[in-house]
Amino acid sequence: MDTLFRLDGKVAIVTGGNSGIGEGIAHGFAMAGAAVVVAARDQKKTARVTEEIKQKYGVPTLGIQTDVSNESSIKAMSEETLSAFSRIDILVNNAGVNVRKPPQDFSSAEWDEVMDVNLKGAFLCCQSVYAEMCKQGGKIINVGSITSIFGSAKTAAYASSKGGIVQLTRSLAVAWAPDQIQVNAILPGWIDTPLTQGSRKTFPGLDHHVEHRCPAGRWGTPADFAGPAVFLASSASAFVTGETLLVDGGYAQSALIV
Ligand SMILES: NC(=O)c1ccc[n+]([C@@H]2O[C@H](COP(=O)([O-])OP(=O)(O)OC[C@H]3O[C@@H](n4cnc5c(N)ncnc54)[C@H](OP(=O)(O)O)[C@@H]3O)[C@@H](O)[C@H]2O)c1
Repeated sequence: MDTLFRLDGKVAIVTGGNSGIGEGIAHGFAMAGAAVVVAARDQKKTARVTEEIKQKYGVPTLGIQTDVSNESSIKAMSEETLSAFSRIDILVNNAGVNVRKPPQDFSSAEWDEVMDVNLKGAFLCCQSVYAEMCKQGGKIINVGSITSIFGSAKTAAYASSKGGIVQLTRSLAVAWAPDQIQVNAILPGWIDTPLTQGSRKTFPGLDHHVEHRCPAGRWGTPADFAGPAVFLASSASAFVTGETLLVDGGYAQSALIV
C-alpha cells in the first residue's frame, strides 16, 4: 500500500496543465512524487504553475510551450521531455477548447479547431510517446466529458470530439495492452474552471441547474481530479485499461431535477 499509489521516479506530461483540471492533475502527480511536464501554449501561465509545483512538492518540473493542434509542436514536446528526463511514463491528454453555438451555425474552420485540439491532438500526443512507453510500459489518461455520453445542443463539435475520445481510449487500450501501456479516460462533469466561467455568465441559470441536478450539490474543482488521475497513472490500476471514469459528483447518474 505504501507504493501502490506512488509515482516516484516517473515522468508525467500533462497537456493543458497550466490551468483548471490539468493543473489539478499536475498537483496530484507531484504530490505522488512524479516529475511533471506542463505542455500548453501560454508560457506565463505555465511558468506560474511549474514554479508553484516545484516549491510546494520539491519535484522536478518543466514547462514546454506546446500547441497540440500542431504535429511538429507535439513531436518537440516529447523530444524536449526526453532530453530533460530520459523517459516518459505518463501522458495526460487534457488540453481542450470549446465553441458554443447551434450546430447549423458552425463554420468548417470552427469544427476543425475543436477537433484538432480535443481529438486529433490527443491522438497525435499518444503516438508521439508510444515508442518511449514501449521501453518500460506507460499510462495514458485522456480527458473526455459528460458530453462523451450526453448530446449537447450548443456544442456539437465539442461533444463529438469527446465521444471520439472514449473510442480512441478503447482502441488504443486494446492495441497497446501487449506493450504494457494502459489507456483510460476521465470524464469530468461540471467543473469550476476558466472553460466554464464563460458559460456561467452566458447562462445565468447554470449555477442553479448544476447545484440541483448534481447529487453532490456543487460544482467540481480542479483538486477533485488529483486522486482519480493518480489512481489511473499508478500501479494501483495495472489491470485497468480502456475504461472511462466519470468524475462528476453523480451528475450522470441523476435522472431528475427534483
Ligand atoms: N470544466 C469543465 O466543466 C469540463 C467538463 C468536461 C470536460 N472538461 C475538459 O477538461 C479539459 C480541461 O478543461 P478545463 O475546464 O480545465 O479548461 P481550461 O482551464 O480552459 O484549460 C484548458 C487548457 O487547455 C490548454 N489548451 C487549449 N488549447 C491548447 C492547444 N492548442 N495546445 C495546448 N494546450 C491547449 C490551455 O492552455 P493554453 O491556453 O496555455 O494553451 C489550458 O491549459 C478539457 O479537455 C475540457 O474539455 C472540462
